Amino acid sequence: MPIPAKPLRILAVSGSLRAASLNTLLLQTLATLAPASIDVQLYRHLGDLPLFNPDLEKPLPEPVADFKNHILSADAVIIASPEYAHGVTGVIKNALDWLVGTEAFVNKPVALLNVSGRAVHAYAALREIVTMMFANIIDAASLTIPLYGNGLTEADVLANPQTVQDLQAVLVALQQAQNLE
Ligand SMILES: Cc1cc2nc3c(=O)[nH]c(=O)nc-3n(C[C@H](O)[C@H](O)[C@H](O)COP(=O)(O)O)c2cc1C
Repeated sequence: MPIPAKPLRILAVSGSLRAASLNTLLLQTLATLAPASIDVQLYRHLGDLPLFNPDLEKPLPEPVADFKNHILSADAVIIASPEYAHGVTGVIKNALDWLVGTEAFVNKPVALLNVSGRAVHAYAALREIVTMMFANIIDAASLTIPLYGNGLTEADVLANPQTVQDLQAVLVALQQAQNLE
């Protein structure tokens, strides 16, 4: 009997702590769409990380170590994060700052998703940050997938064929990138 291939493990990280976050909703929907061959885990604990302080790096605070371990054990990471005042959110910057001095993102396949075509500053800045951390940004999996409106649900997102197609393209691109490794 053939041994089934291990699922691709993707860690999905939202840079918004808002309960009704569109970025989190996009990642949740991606997890729902993922086939059995891809395991998408949404990381929900960025709000537990203390503010970055280099004096506290040794040993890493437990919530930071948890985040780092999740990144290290993932085959790929997807980040979807909003733009605040033409910059990345403090939430995602704080989380990434904790890991700059570590190997967590080195050569890690990373996809950057953007739910707003207007959020060009934060998207470019996020790309620069993870590039500086030696991540392997997968361009084919890094898409702007617009989501607009209040009170959107996963059912609303799934009802949009273009959004579903884009999310499936993200998953396919990450799987292809993994197969090339
Ligand atoms: C404090 C604050 C600043 C914002 N600044 C910008 C901005 O500079 N550019 C932009 O396109 N959107 C900006 N927005 C809009 C957010 O990017 C938008 O509401 C997004 O949906 C928030 O992401 P979330 O739904 O995942 O929480 C801002 C929102 C807030 C709360």
